[in-house]
Amino acid sequence: MASPPREQWSSRYGFMMAAVGSAVGLGNMWRFSYLTAENGGAAFVVLYLAITWLVGLPVLLAELVLGRGSQKSPIRALAHFGGDSWKPLGFVFVAAGFLILSYYSVIAGWTVRYALSGVFLGFDPDAGAHFVRVASGWDAFGFHIAFMMGTILIVARGVSGGIERTAMVLMPALFAIVIGLALYAATLDGSSGGYAYYLNTDFGKLSELDVWKAAAGQAFFSLSLGMGAMLTFASYLGRDTDLPQEAVIIAVADVGIAFIAGLVVFPMIYALNLSSDVGESTVGALFITLPKAFAEMGAVGRGVGGLFFVALVVGALTSAISLLEVVVATGIDGLGWTRRKAAIVFGTAIAILGIPSAWSTDILGAVDEVANNIFLLGGGLALSIFVGWVMTDPEAEVGSSGLVWLAIWRNLLRFAVPLFLGFVLYFAIPSTWETLVALF
Ligand code: TRP
Repeated sequence: MASPPREQWSSRYGFMMAAVGSAVGLGNMWRFSYLTAENGGAAFVVLYLAITWLVGLPVLLAELVLGRGSQKSPIRALAHFGGDSWKPLGFVFVAAGFLILSYYSVIAGWTVRYALSGVFLGFDPDAGAHFVRVASGWDAFGFHIAFMMGTILIVARGVSGGIERTAMVLMPALFAIVIGLALYAATLDGSSGGYAYYLNTDFGKLSELDVWKAAAGQAFFSLSLGMGAMLTFASYLGRDTDLPQEAVIIAVADVGIAFIAGLVVFPMIYALNLSSDVGESTVGALFITLPKAFAEMGAVGRGVGGLFFVALVVGALTSAISLLEVVVATGIDGLGWTRRKAAIVFGTAIAILGIPSAWSTDILGAVDEVANNIFLLGGGLALSIFVGWVMTDPEAEVGSSGLVWLAIWRNLLRFAVPLFLGFVLYFAIPSTWETLVALF
């Protein structure tokens, strides 16, 4: 059977927006802000930035090289460069895509609901009780399904017609909203306490292993690394792209939006005297404390809060698209399915897999922990070994860029990255196991 020619991005800019869209999402706003609050403010931020550049960026370039070089979805890309014995790792990647999207879509559903109800009904001043009502059960399930349907529709329309077009419209809007909100937050009386809290540095925290684990997991999650999402997107790229340059742009945009999101969240919370609420619950900063702040702002809060949640919906949607695309590309390449069929069948399966997460936020939290601490960090470890040691001459697939940088890159992948990830995993595995045991 002759397969149709492989889809391609229609422009370099389009790929960039789609890749940045994958990276920038709930991770930048929801996860980043609560992890920062939990792990000692700026000390965590500095650690997260260091890991992003020294560990995340090399792995990101490794994924781009594997995808662009093979022009294939993850399982076949690994087989292309490493032989069939590497296929199981590709299956793990696809499984991670299923797992992550299944709960990611539940949280995305909350953001859709908050955006709609914030704008049309106003935010509930009793935000804690409101969150408990809508975060699990039928409500959460309904919005989860609706969000998955939107994701399926876009992915079914194809790489350039669906994914690229959506990202090109939505990503600039997201940037504008987040920057605008950060500027607005700066004008609020009392916001300075928020900056002090956010940018305060408790270096003592750096001696805690939990902080390292959280920062490493966050760096991988936020850059969409460790399960072949960036690999899959790069497989639709032509020969002429400068991959290191793309990788740097993606990483800068990703940490930039996370940092600016912090400049929205913390000053607003402090300006409204809600700082004692932060850190009470992991999801608190975003879905409880901020809506409370928006409710107190009255009519302005509906506008500001509505925009905030619209930005979250946008980020979540462009990220969810990339997660589904990993699975769909595998269905197209590996099973010979049409894109439409793959999107509908796999999207529906993921929607069903998300039911437990929609039923209980404890289950959701545990799935998040397993996905990040085990699948993504483990996937990153395997990828660095693969490109560092197994693949012959990955430098040749990179394209341009100086020889010195290429040598540094390869050596990071060979030594520093696997050592670091191995170290983090060594501590992450038992604690994740404990979380799972506590669930039952
Ligand atoms: N990076 C996204 C975020 O920050 C989430 C995401 C999208 C993701 N695709 C991924 C995470 C692939 C891990 C792997 O919200």
